[in-house]
Amino acid sequence: MKILIAYYSNFGNTFELASAVKRGILAAGDFEVTISKISPKKENNLDPNQFDLVFLGGPVVFELNSQVRDFGLRLSPGKKVAVFSVGLSKVGFESLKKFESALVSKGINCIETIFIKKNVFQKGFSEISISRIEGFGEKIVSRLMNISTKRDKEKSKIKGYK
Ligand SMILES: Cc1cc2nc3c(=O)[nH]c(=O)nc-3n(C[C@H](O)[C@H](O)[C@H](O)COP(=O)(O)O)c2cc1C
Repeated sequence: MKILIAYYSNFGNTFELASAVKRGILAAGDFEVTISKISPKKENNLDPNQFDLVFLGGPVVFELNSQVRDFGLRLSPGKKVAVFSVGLSKVGFESLKKFESALVSKGINCIETIFIKKNVFQKGFSEISISRIEGFGEKIVSRLMNISTKRDKEKSKIKGYK
């Protein structure tokens, strides 16, 4: 399975999340992962349709970054995408949900979205946020490949756990 993590970042926060998604994917298995920053020049960008699964990430600055939205909407109907975003407010979350609807109405298979809240004055992310985003990468890939995650394996060790 060929996986692309395409992101845009102004200050490096979304890049930090993209790196965490990659760690999560690699925890699930030895997958071929390409990580690429989306360029404002459309012709410099990879073709997202060449990949089996695309993780798409972007910050919210009033709205989810438009380059990220344009890139995602280049996907053909039926293509699989999972979207992660970072912002400080409910407005950011709503913008992500609006983008999810736009993908779905084009017939793109938007598997899951995740919004990480971050205060602009806070440097970096909390351990909880990083582990959520790593878990996001691991969970999506594991589910698609029908393999159990580390967390599932831990749970199955608990006697009687269903
Ligand atoms: C000028 C400006 C406007 C912003 N507007 C919003 C907003 O409307 N909603 C929101 O959730 N976050 C907003 N943010 C917060 C950014 O999404 C946040 O700083 C994010 O971490 C930036 O990611 P990046 O480092 O990858 O560029 C804004 C940040 C800036 C600097």
